[in-house]
Amino acid sequence: MKRDDDHAPTARTTAGRAAAGNPPAMTQPAMGQPAMGQPAMGQPHAHESARAQVAGSAHYIDDLPEVKGTLYAAPILSTVAHGRLESVDTQAALQLAGVHGVVLAQDIPGDPVLAAFAHDEPVFAQATVQHIGQVIGLVVADSVMQARRAARQVKLSITALPAILTVRDALAAESYVLPPVHVRRGDAAQALAQAPHRLQGRLEVGGQEHFYLEGQIAYALPQEQGQWLIHSSTQHPGEVQHWVAHALGIDSHAVRVECRRMGGGFGGKETQAGHLAVWAALAAHKFGRPVKLRLDRDDDFMVTGKRHPFAYEWDVGFDDAGRITGLKLMMAANCGFSADLSGPVADRAVFHCDNAYFLEHVEIASYRCKTHTQSHTAFRGFGGPQGVIAIETILGDIARALGRDALDVRMANLYGLHERNVTHYQMTVEDNILHELLPQLEQSALYRQRQEAVSAWNAANPVLKRGLGLTPVKFGISFTATLFNQAGALVHVYTDGSVQVNHGGTEMGQGLHTKVAQIVADELGVPLSRVLVTASDTAKVPNASATAASSGTDLNGRAAQFAARHVRDNLAAFVCGLDGCGAGAIRFAGGQVISPKRTRRWEDVVKEAYANRIQLWSDGFYRTPKIHYDKTTLTGRPFYYFAYGAACTEVAIDTHTGESRVLAVDILHDVGHSINPAIDLGQIEGGFVQGMGWLTTEQLVWNDEGRLATHAPSTYKIPATGDVPEHLRVQLWHQPNREDNVGGSKAVGEPPFMLAISVYEALRNAIAAARGDGGADARAPVQLTAPATAENVLRAIGRLE
Ligand code: MTE
Ligand code: HPA
Ligand code: MOS
Repeated sequence: MKRDDDHAPTARTTAGRAAAGNPPAMTQPAMGQPAMGQPAMGQPHAHESARAQVAGSAHYIDDLPEVKGTLYAAPILSTVAHGRLESVDTQAALQLAGVHGVVLAQDIPGDPVLAAFAHDEPVFAQATVQHIGQVIGLVVADSVMQARRAARQVKLSITALPAILTVRDALAAESYVLPPVHVRRGDAAQALAQAPHRLQGRLEVGGQEHFYLEGQIAYALPQEQGQWLIHSSTQHPGEVQHWVAHALGIDSHAVRVECRRMGGGFGGKETQAGHLAVWAALAAHKFGRPVKLRLDRDDDFMVTGKRHPFAYEWDVGFDDAGRITGLKLMMAANCGFSADLSGPVADRAVFHCDNAYFLEHVEIASYRCKTHTQSHTAFRGFGGPQGVIAIETILGDIARALGRDALDVRMANLYGLHERNVTHYQMTVEDNILHELLPQLEQSALYRQRQEAVSAWNAANPVLKRGLGLTPVKFGISFTATLFNQAGALVHVYTDGSVQVNHGGTEMGQGLHTKVAQIVADELGVPLSRVLVTASDTAKVPNASATAASSGTDLNGRAAQFAARHVRDNLAAFVCGLDGCGAGAIRFAGGQVISPKRTRRWEDVVKEAYANRIQLWSDGFYRTPKIHYDKTTLTGRPFYYFAYGAACTEVAIDTHTGESRVLAVDILHDVGHSINPAIDLGQIEGGFVQGMGWLTTEQLVWNDEGRLATHAPSTYKIPATGDVPEHLRVQLWHQPNREDNVGGSKAVGEPPFMLAISVYEALRNAIAAARGDGGADARAPVQLTAPATAENVLRAIGRLE
């Protein structure tokens, strides 16, 4: 990967901090080599687990020492997409060596329906099955392989019922998991009738498997007096606790859930980790032994939900400049067999179908379709990508229809700074930076020159065609469900001066614990090495929200900062008592406590404070200000702020085979004042590449029976290191968050995912060039089904039925 050192994120970020009044001495640390004795925030510290992960000594749940007597479970899966479950014959399975028994719906002591949002999902299928891969029960055995083999010997008798397998069939049948939602502003019908130009279109965009490296896993350990310890690879320990208590019919206080880290979550462990924990706990309850349940990769594909596939139809009106004057947009989400998080996912798609553009007269219809497939769930972007791709497709086609440059058309549609700045859900966009950011990327990526070079290439080359695409992103930060925007933390200072932090967030590789440790270190003025963040634990911070919506650092970082501030205030009050000065005069920096009279070592102050019975630990609590929104009309201010970015991508396609390659990518992305530029760079690169996979190679195929045919890496292709574009240059935007967010930073986890829509737009431009050679109308819309597999590219060119 090439990086332009002149524009290295570290330099940009620290320059920004200096400009904002920080001492210039702290600028320019080399990547991975933070300066000593300086504040921890703003520096590219390595991930707190990086060394242990590389050495193989970082524990995932399957690495934990097992308790004596542990049994292993494997799931019994439905073989029919929709049907009546007549009988479950376990005789053959029970006769196999090592098998202890099975767990079925009748073994559930509490509620047989999961404690999910819509209460529409059985813990184990009972009278009916609703997708191939639905879990009917478990086999429990002495070893993992014995359990898995036995599960395949369970004989199911199922009478098939008609199954709905595609989103279009679900729409036709009005098969929904939740009622449709309509959002309107202005008068779209009239605006369309009066529009100088008009286009209609439709699009299908596929789902995406999370493909976390660590598959879904839970380990349930019965404790004394009806209490439980659950190790769960989950983004939401608090919900796992709630669900396990609900299924066992016990109080939440009797269930403790712990998660040190996940080997990736990407949204796939926001709710669906809870299913495994409930299943493992039910097995452990029945047999009175600890039970571990880890799905193998194929079962993980078959059982768990994915990114929602979407289908769209639109009618758009626009003027000669390509400015949209009216839009009717239909979005249908394939939710699978239950609601899960589909309501908020589809809502977020509605909130992001403007992306960065003002839609004056607009009518959006959002359908939450029920199909007999896995229950689709959160996945990085959480419906945002499915909203953004719709409007970017529409704008690309408008530019083509007018024969205008697509960046010019996009610029013409941007939200204004003082007018045309209210979203279709009535939120004023106050922090728009795209007017500056897009031209900056246009320049640094040499967009205009390369457009000309691409045109020249295409004129000279009949077989390989190139395309260039430049698209922005504006992503709303906050959980759309306002109540989730709260967090708690605990900071403990021990008498040796070391600091332990616990907060409600979870670590999935995104670097949350590292950033929280940096924040606490700076609040207490101690070196980062003195701060340790421990496993997420429902016994330490209760009722924590899922680590999701990219807001992990915003929420938990602030809560931890407040907790540390309380301890610091206690210590400051103590020192001013000694020195006879005001508490505001005490500074904490560089491992020292500095009063106007004396400078003391942090460790000495802590020891002395303890001896004087000063409290050395505290909690902290944060809730995001300013947000509110009406769930029924989807109007208000659902987001505290927006994160912005843009990417310029060049691709090539082979018009004979349909193969494509991403040649070069230039990204300019806004993380505010970066708390950790090394981690943010990783999030931007990783998010982009994951988005590229969604739109190019990652194709989910369900066959005519509703069986997922692509359920292993042999048939489902995620990007490998070799697919990472050779030129991938990332620059960070240099301004802080204009809202008061921790350290002036902005959330980074999800927004860069949508930068990959530039790949899709570049591919459509290359396809248009190929089609032009065949004499087709160069101005007609390019219909490219996502992902842009070789077949879909050939179809879009018109060389495959
Ligand atoms: N990065 C890694 N390495 N692994 C992950 O699972 N999940 C993404 C993103 N980045 C993920 C990741 C998703 S879906 C979200 S919402 C955020 O991280 C969650 O963490 P944060 O809020 O702390 O950014
Ligand atoms: N993002 C991610 N997860 C969520 C959200 C959201 O906006 N709302 C509820 N769960
Ligand atoms: Mo992320 S999809 O909000 O877990």
